Amino acid sequence: CGIVGIVGRRSVSQRLLEALKRLEYRGYDSAGLATISEGTLVRCRAQGKLVNLEMRMREQPLNGIIGIGHTRWATHGAPTERNAHPHMVDGIAVVHNGIIENFAELKAALEETGANFETDTDSEVVAHLLAKYRREGMNSREAMYEMLKRLRGAFCLAILLQDDPSTIMAARNGPPLAIGRGDGEMFIGSDPITLAPFTNEVTYLIDGDWAIVGNTDVSIFDARGNAVTRPRCTSTASADRVTKGHYSHFMEKEIHEQPDVIGRALARYVDSSSDLVAPLSTGIDFAKVASLMISACGTAYLAGLVGKYWFERYARLPVEIDVASEFRYREIPLSPHAAALFISQSGETADTLASLRYCKGHGLKVGAVVNTSESTIAREADTIFPILAGPEIGVASTKAFTCQLTVLAALALAAGKARGTLTADQERQLVKRLIDMPSIVREVLQNIQSQIQLLSRELSESPHVLFIGRGTSFPLAMEGALKLKEISYIHAEGYAAGELKHGPIALVDKNVPVIIIAPYDQVFEKTVSNMQEVAARGGQIILITDERGAASSKLETMHTIVLPHVDEIVAPIIFALPLQLIAYHVAVFKGTDIDQPRNLAKSVTVE
Ligand code: G6P
Repeated sequence: CGIVGIVGRRSVSQRLLEALKRLEYRGYDSAGLATISEGTLVRCRAQGKLVNLEMRMREQPLNGIIGIGHTRWATHGAPTERNAHPHMVDGIAVVHNGIIENFAELKAALEETGANFETDTDSEVVAHLLAKYRREGMNSREAMYEMLKRLRGAFCLAILLQDDPSTIMAARNGPPLAIGRGDGEMFIGSDPITLAPFTNEVTYLIDGDWAIVGNTDVSIFDARGNAVTRPRCTSTASADRVTKGHYSHFMEKEIHEQPDVIGRALARYVDSSSDLVAPLSTGIDFAKVASLMISACGTAYLAGLVGKYWFERYARLPVEIDVASEFRYREIPLSPHAAALFISQSGETADTLASLRYCKGHGLKVGAVVNTSESTIAREADTIFPILAGPEIGVASTKAFTCQLTVLAALALAAGKARGTLTADQERQLVKRLIDMPSIVREVLQNIQSQIQLLSRELSESPHVLFIGRGTSFPLAMEGALKLKEISYIHAEGYAAGELKHGPIALVDKNVPVIIIAPYDQVFEKTVSNMQEVAARGGQIILITDERGAASSKLETMHTIVLPHVDEIVAPIIFALPLQLIAYHVAVFKGTDIDQPRNLAKSVTVE
């Protein structure tokens, strides 16, 4: 969910709406605003995307120079208008990001004292608790302090009180919250990008902090209620909003941006005049670390899994990798000689952030491979490795994935160099291959479009699709399946090709397409054997290979997509392209909402 608030000097509702558009990456299940208009708290809410709220507000404009807004990714309670924020009780309006873990027990106690709950959300308890303390005679500051003491969980709040129409109260315990200072106006937002059109002077609350924000100043308190000061920083977040240009979808545009953004990322990590990796100004000394922990979610996790193969192969550095939601609770014994890498496009994913904090808390040096250098994960890491993909708007990650891979490849080579596992000659050869990559990406994107469109029309009729691969093509198989699931809603699974015979092969029949990702590498022959097993059972084979692989495999396939033969360090990036295009074109045929698929959010800021 995303939160915004303005304590203004002029009308706020349109500006709140504009700010919510910049927060829609955090969810689009419902949205709402509340303002104080002529002394009365008023709100407007709508189910679904922000455009619905925008339309509603045309019929029912909200006046007022102070207000809060929210865009929701549903956790507790269906994504209906009734459950949309802000929640209002007795002249108190609340927007909330996160989860209040003890809400059931608080709700039961409040109901016993006569509270009437209107929603199924955990968030509504905040409004009821505050209302109760106000009725008992506490002023707003006292009520806020008492209320916060009762809450458990990770949350972030912005609160508007009808009888105190010149301030917004805010609190942070987990998810980030920035307070921006304008000209006689103050702002609250889940991230500095939201606040960028208003101000670049921001103060971040730290965990446990809460604040009373007026139109010229803010009073900040810690969890014990003591007044504290927090530093002001200058944010470099841009106020510009990204457009689709001549493309039909952001995802399509982002796929086609890859040659440029991969080139930009490479320029940061390799030196094209010497064909050597660029010296890293990093807090992680790869020569000294004994192992590397990697953690991330979704597509970023799958990039990390490819990275594991590279760090182990080129730097002989053992890598332990896990999805962040498991990593954080596994009680992993962490060696002080290990370092940790966290990969996140947004830099705001709650589970990844928690894993980072776990490792930092155990004294490990932590690096963040991020796209948003103003993000919480970037701010909390010891070292940032920017992927420089530029804003990614489509929920299904494409250019961020290939830029993550680019950066991880370069880091694996840098680690190999530092650890003496790569000779200068090997380093030069591999860096050259990376430097050639953007032009190959451009060529592949041009050449395979029409074939992929043809094949995607057929795939769009299938209820299930399997993806298989070995080595670095195994994570790619999972990424291909994830992309297809996310935007076309077709059931898809990605497997290690060698695992097919241990179960998934039972699914194979003439109606199940099996997409085989097989660059001509050291495991090519093995993958071809797995392909034989599929063919023997009448499965429909779609082979994605390169020129050498196509020449050496004689099997009959439904389709064969032939890519240029490239070095193994480049193959995962080149082979990701047909997978992205398959998901995109299948979704176009199915007519789904490609950039904002159902039930998902670009960044999930709850655990
Ligand atoms: C969400 C998105 C995925 C993304 C994942 C991790 O689930 O829908 O596309 O891969 O979060 O996001 P991050 O911003 O941490 O890379």
